[in-house]
Amino acid sequence: MEQYHEENFEAPIIEEEDHPEHDDIIIDDDAKSSVSFTKSKKDTRVQESDTILSAAKKTGLHIPSACQFGVCGTCKVKKVSGEVHMVHNGGITQEQIDDGYVLACCSNPLGDVVIDF
Ligand code: FES
Repeated sequence: MEQYHEENFEAPIIEEEDHPEHDDIIIDDDAKSSVSFTKSKKDTRVQESDTILSAAKKTGLHIPSACQFGVCGTCKVKKVSGEVHMVHNGGITQEQIDDGYVLACCSNPLGDVVIDF
């Protein structure tokens, strides 16, 4: 019995406060948004699930783009007003975001959005 060793393991009890709150936005496919392009004087109504890039294409505008998944930064445009939901992969810096820039290829308009393009 001097060499006998016993261990017991059990799963930790997870408390409600241990779960981090996520502030991620769920895009509503049925919600409509409007996107206006100030320099081009064009605007359109789109779904929130559309991107700023696809809204531009819908109006006949060509925002330069390449990767179309938020890496290269080619589609960077300045947002004048409104909110977007942007999920990028490093194609924009936090400083640029703070200055009002968004990546058109991976930004969904939430409500009315005005873009300086
Ligand atoms: S096209 Fe590459 S980040 Fe938008």
